[in-house]
Amino acid sequence: MYGSPRRRKILSITKTVAKAYIPKTIFMPTEQLLQIENLHVETLEKPLLQGINLTIQPGKIYALMGPNGAGKTTLANILAGKQNNTITKGKITFMGKNLLTLSPEQRASKGLFMAFQQPIAIPGVRTINFLKTAINQIRLSKNQPELTAPQLLALVKEKTKTLNIDTQLLYKPLNENLSGGEKKLNELLQMVILDPKLAILDEIDSGLDIDTIRLLGKTLQKTRRPDNALIIITHYPHLFKYITPDVIHILQKGRIVQSSDARLGQTLLEKGYKKMNNKPIEKTTPS
Ligand SMILES: Nc1ncnc2c1ncn2[C@@H]1O[C@H](COP(=O)(O)OP(=O)(O)O)[C@@H](O)[C@H]1O
Ligand SMILES: [Mg+2]
Repeated sequence: MYGSPRRRKILSITKTVAKAYIPKTIFMPTEQLLQIENLHVETLEKPLLQGINLTIQPGKIYALMGPNGAGKTTLANILAGKQNNTITKGKITFMGKNLLTLSPEQRASKGLFMAFQQPIAIPGVRTINFLKTAINQIRLSKNQPELTAPQLLALVKEKTKTLNIDTQLLYKPLNENLSGGEKKLNELLQMVILDPKLAILDEIDSGLDIDTIRLLGKTLQKTRRPDNALIIITHYPHLFKYITPDVIHILQKGRIVQSSDARLGQTLLEKGYKKMNNKPIEKTTPS
């Protein structure tokens, strides 16, 4: 112990007062956004996920890679609340809450965004109107007034002003008659405008040409902040030329078999999935 008893007492009071007055959100970046513990998922026929442990911290970018059928989309769907498989074991905590008790809409309101591998089309509903409903649902859940049309347009303009993406996609019916690449860009635009805490992008790079991959990578890089995180699900490390993941996890047969930094992407390109270590690891490092 240092200092006189009087000095120590003053220090202790100062600390208590400071704790009471500093808003809790300031401490947010050091907390975990998402924690998956021993997650097991199965269908009637077979197990799909067999003991997934994953920690997602704010300010970080994660890549989830793996061969076809490894369980990547299954995991993403479970996180988004798309329930076509059964959770038999495990726990998922999102921003301190049990994610599994929340509806898909509640998850979105809390800041979870999912870009689906196969985005759905809603004929007759323009993307901008779909977004307006989504944004207002999030605002209502926070007791904020709904956005008017001019306010929404101002928001879209502000969020997309530094991006070189054609916002005309927003005025077409949601994913109707769009090419595969346009659908992916549409998802990206929605993500940028909704500004989620955690975005899960399931193969958002698949089917994109080289220039669009660069645009995607640079756009994702611009969304990076100390209080949000990204999970990029992909087969190939091409995107990592423009956005470097902090951690790459490799999923094989429903288990995480390797976790490392971005150099793992290069090893994968050289070796392929079959020659990688296939033994499941018990706990992923929460780097
Ligand atoms: N509802 C389901 N019923 C039966 N099999 C399923 C279902 N959902 C996924 N699968 C199977 O689970 C495995 C993992 O699928 P998926 O998560 O889509 O893989 P990935 O996205 O890694 O390519 C695949 O073999 C797939 O056919
Ligand atoms: Mg998939």
